[in-house]
This record gives sequence, C-alpha cells and structure tokens, in this order.
Amino acid sequence: MTAFRPSPFRPTMPLRVSSQPQTLLKTPATRPKEEHASGWSSLWDNDKSHFWDRGKPSPALQDLLNLYPDVVSELPRGPERRRKALVPGCGKGYDVVMLALHGYDTYGLDVSEKAVEAAREYTANELRDPSAYNFKEASPYTHSPEGATRGTATFSVGNFFEREWESLVATEDEQKFDLIYDYTFLCALPPDMRRDWAIRMSELLAPNGILVCLEFPLYKDPRLPGPPWGLKGVHWNLLAEGGNGLIDPASGMPEETTPKEGLFERKLYLTPERTFEIGQGTDMLSVWKLQQ
Ligand SMILES: C[S@@+](CC[C@H](N)C(=O)[O-])C[C@H]1O[C@@H](n2cnc3c(N)ncnc32)[C@H](O)[C@@H]1O
Repeated sequence: MTAFRPSPFRPTMPLRVSSQPQTLLKTPATRPKEEHASGWSSLWDNDKSHFWDRGKPSPALQDLLNLYPDVVSELPRGPERRRKALVPGCGKGYDVVMLALHGYDTYGLDVSEKAVEAAREYTANELRDPSAYNFKEASPYTHSPEGATRGTATFSVGNFFEREWESLVATEDEQKFDLIYDYTFLCALPPDMRRDWAIRMSELLAPNGILVCLEFPLYKDPRLPGPPWGLKGVHWNLLAEGGNGLIDPASGMPEETTPKEGLFERKLYLTPERTFEIGQGTDMLSVWKLQQ
C-alpha cells in the first residue's frame, strides 16, 4: 500500500477564510468551467497526481459493500446480469478495481488520457494479483467463491458532462448504472458546475440505483477557493433540495432553496468508521436514490 503523501489536498494550517489555503489554486485546475477539463488533463500530463492520489481504494466504500448489504440488495444481480457501477473522475482506478473485485461490472471515466492509461496499467496488475487492501478482513468476497463473481473493470477517456463516452460503456438500453461512486470528483469541479453534476447523476443512475458519495472535504470552509472545494452542506443542497450548491458568503453554507425540489432522496448518512487519514473524523458517507 502506498502511504498517503502530504499534498495540497491536506490542510496544514487552521482553516480561516483569510488563511492562505492549501489548494491547487495556482494550477491549471483552477480554470473557469469551460477549461476545467483541460486543466485536469494538464495536471496529469505534468505528473501532479500525487497531489490527490491516496494509493488505494476507499475503505468507506468497501465497508458499505460489506456491512450494509441491505443498501445494495435491491440492485439487480444474478448470473444473468451483474450489477453495473460507474466511477467518474476515477484517476488511477483504485475504486474501479475494488468494485470489480466485489462483483460489479465497473466503468471508470476520466477526462485525462494519461489517467486512463495509468488506470489500465494498475488494473492489469491488480486483477492478476489483487492486493489485500481490496478486501475487508474476513470479507465473504475474499473467502467464498460464491460471495461474488468477479466483475469487469473498463476505462474510458471522456468528459462526464458530455455524452459521447456513454455509448462506449454500454448498449443503448443498458446505459444506466446501479451504483455510482463519487470521491473527490465533485470537489474537483468549479462550484458553478455543481448543479450540472447533480443533473448528470440523475440521468446516469438506474431507477433503483444508488449514488454513493464520500463527502470530502468537510473540514474546509466552503468559501475558500479550490480545488478541492469545501463541500459542507453541498450534497444535501444539490441532491435533496434541488439547489445549485453555491455558497452564501455570509453564512458559509449553500444558499437556501425554495421550493425543495431535489431529484434524490437520502437513504443512508453516516460517519464512516474507516476512511482516508485526511478525512478521518470529518468525512461523511451518503447514499442516495432517485425520488420515485
Ligand atoms: C481529485 S482527482 C480524484 C481522482 C480519484 N477519484 C482519486 O480519488 O484518486 C479528480 C479527477 O477527476 C478527473 N476529472 C475532472 N473533471 C472531469 C470531467 N469533467 N470528466 C471526467 N473526469 C474529470 C480528473 O482528471 C482527476 O483525475
């Protein structure tokens, strides 16, 4: 397992509005909405992925799959149709591989060609000889062949907000996903893209599917510039209230939205027992379904 490396994603000083934030502020990722994708590609092309790369899959997602089977049990499964998952902004693909090893046909999407190249290389090695960090101790997935049939891990270069890549990952009638996982993707986007993020999620999720968000960073004042942009209160505002996720400078919280017309309903909200060191004690895990 690669140790977590100090990075601009880790705060090194108390968080105050006036403090100089530790962010990718002066990098190409801080471009306006129209240029954010090329900004991220440029970070990858210049070998800056150590700023955010945690070197292993999310322990909180792993625990959800193993400890909350009821949350995922409504999803279709069985030999005739494996569950289908999407990880947008997948980076090196750690969560894609872990989901595949837990029985999901998983698609990793990243706007950077270099990221997808790195993810494919990581995946080829990892599926051949999976690291222990892919499995929870005593997990049925490690010990019982019936626990889960291994799924596939497939990567595409594409922009989440555009539609071209969708045809690469599925046939027309099977384009929707049973599970979508967001970790450090929403916080990587300029705030004025948040509403589009929520709408896109609603378009991509299957009617009974779940959107799983490891909410990070919640310790950072959302008024400070990013990436990563602080997200305290943002998921609720976007998904449950149907807001635009923009922050009121006076309160430091998302602007109040009326009427409440969120596209999603929150099914689970918990402090994960295990998460990455940087988010331990502040990360929250939320699970969402589309309003029926
Ligand atoms: C902070 S990194 C997180 C990567 C990964 N989730 C991880 O935890 O290592 C954000 C990722 O989102 C990708 N990205 C940014 N905007 C994107 C977009 N519009 N469509 C697809 N990927 C995007 C970036 O290239 C980058 O790999």
